[in-house]
Amino acid sequence: MELYLRLLQFVKPYIFRVSVALGCTVLAAGANLYLPWIIKDVIDDVLTAKDMVMLNVIAGGILVVFLLRGVFFYGQTYLMSFVGQRVIIDIREALYRHLQRLPLSYFESRRTGTVMSYVTNDVSALQSALADSAIELITESTILVGSIAFMFYIHWKLTLLTLITLPLVAQAISVFGKKLRRAGRVMQERTADITAFLQETVLAVRVVKSFAREDYEIERFNQENYHNFRAQMKTAQLMATLTPIVEFLSALGVTVIIWYGGLEVIDGNLTAGALIAFLMYVVNLSNPVKRLSRVYGNIQRALAAAQRVFEVMDTEPNIKDEPGAVELPPIRGEVAFRAVTFEYKPGEPALREIDLTVNPGQMVAIVGPSGAGKTTIANLIPRFYDPVAGAILVDGFDIKAVTLNSLRRQIGIVPQETILFNGTVFENILYGKLEAHQEEVIAAAKAANADGFITKMPQGYETQIGERGAKLSGGQRQRIAIARAILKNPRILILDEATSALDAESEALVQEALDKLMVGRTSFVIAHRLSTVQRADVILVMDRGKIIERGTHASLIKAGGLYSKLYHVQFDSSSR
Ligand SMILES: Nc1ncnc2c1ncn2[C@@H]1O[C@H](COP(=O)(O)OP(=O)(O)OP(=O)(O)O)[C@@H](O)[C@H]1O
Ligand SMILES: [Mg+2]
Repeated sequence: MELYLRLLQFVKPYIFRVSVALGCTVLAAGANLYLPWIIKDVIDDVLTAKDMVMLNVIAGGILVVFLLRGVFFYGQTYLMSFVGQRVIIDIREALYRHLQRLPLSYFESRRTGTVMSYVTNDVSALQSALADSAIELITESTILVGSIAFMFYIHWKLTLLTLITLPLVAQAISVFGKKLRRAGRVMQERTADITAFLQETVLAVRVVKSFAREDYEIERFNQENYHNFRAQMKTAQLMATLTPIVEFLSALGVTVIIWYGGLEVIDGNLTAGALIAFLMYVVNLSNPVKRLSRVYGNIQRALAAAQRVFEVMDTEPNIKDEPGAVELPPIRGEVAFRAVTFEYKPGEPALREIDLTVNPGQMVAIVGPSGAGKTTIANLIPRFYDPVAGAILVDGFDIKAVTLNSLRRQIGIVPQETILFNGTVFENILYGKLEAHQEEVIAAAKAANADGFITKMPQGYETQIGERGAKLSGGQRQRIAIARAILKNPRILILDEATSALDAESEALVQEALDKLMVGRTSFVIAHRLSTVQRADVILVMDRGKIIERGTHASLIKAGGLYSKLYHVQFDSSSR
């Protein structure tokens, strides 16, 4: 019920259309009630009196009524579909808007396909509840209520007798309804599993092929499919059981009517026409009861989907603008960490008590073994995650006290894993600054040493790069990512292994470009190749979430710690 009320909130803006549609629905359904009544008159009055004029009037009346019914039917179907589709768009938009605000950690703890399924499958399931089922619900309830009213009018005792079967039907529906709802939820989840599975394996097609795991994946896919089949069959079985039960109970009612009603006609308490009309109403009645039980199933299924959609919408982003957050003014680029501790999983700190002050324009290099926490430090500056203790300041502002947008706008990141969008080279670079002119884009590409390979491609900047940039080499992707960051022109620059996919020559060229780019900006450079970090103002050496050494290249070499060890390993092997 609560869920339905919440769904109705989305219908509110279209209340006028819905009202007209409902009006049409009621009138169209009312036409169905008219026929048995006319039959009664035809049998009892017209046929017995052989009234030719009346017969013509009635025949004309029937045509007019059904013509009108067609018009109302059109209004009902068109308007309800309109509202249903609009509401679905609204819900989808709201859901997507919310998804965009959710933090990285939300997506890391879920499969991509599952999240996609919320926006596609679940929202579509809602649509059937909103539009189709709503129409059926109104139509059938109108017929139900109207038929019962006419039946009471014809013979109340007979009606009461008929209606005794009704609570039985209601009971059956309610018992099955609960089961159907549970089954519906499982069904949606299994469908989401298939989407998620497909999404993962299609994306990882290279890995699948390189390990020759096609058969293994087919087997896994079949299993997912089988689970889905089982879930679908569970629902089908429930529906298949519910319908005959309801029908049998209805047949019971008809038997009673023919027997008792027949007696009443024989006794002269009821006309033959009235009994036939009565029977027609009862048949009218059994249809709605049957359909309502189906609608009920659909609605239960849709509510299960609604529950999941609203669950996502109710997930409060844990990283968002704090109340009273201010715009971060244009910064100089001072960054400070104050006793920052961070954990991805509670109890397992990935960073411990990090203290750090970086002056505007300084270049900070972060080095250390894999898994030391280098990327993690970089992730905290744009607030992808919040520390569990301590604070991070930018130009003296606690980054928790400023708006996310104003903070992230001034930070440029070239991430460890380059992610590009399906589209052209130009569009991908433009992502750094949507309002940039063509010359700026080309200048940025030149600065990233990307212009050369881009112009060599047949379509140049208009080349389609494929999904996630699949049609480019790793080094080319990386240079586009660098161009994108350059175009953004940020005060704080984070380069996480930004040149790792380049050969020595391009690396030297890109490095040169980056060196120019870093002038006057605060930059964090994460690198495994120590050759790229020697000129840094400060080198931080990290190990297991801690900064264990810090200083310039010369001072660290002299100190003879981990850095000098790493340096000698690399230096000696490369000079050999
Ligand atoms: N999203 C995440 N969820 C949970 N744990 C994570 C996540 N990202 C990283 N970690 C863990 O945090 C630790 C630090 O990871 P981080 O990515 O900062 O390492 P790194 O120094 O950048 O390593 P590399 O040089 O390999 O890139 C690792 O133990 C890693 O397993
Ligand atoms: Mg890393």
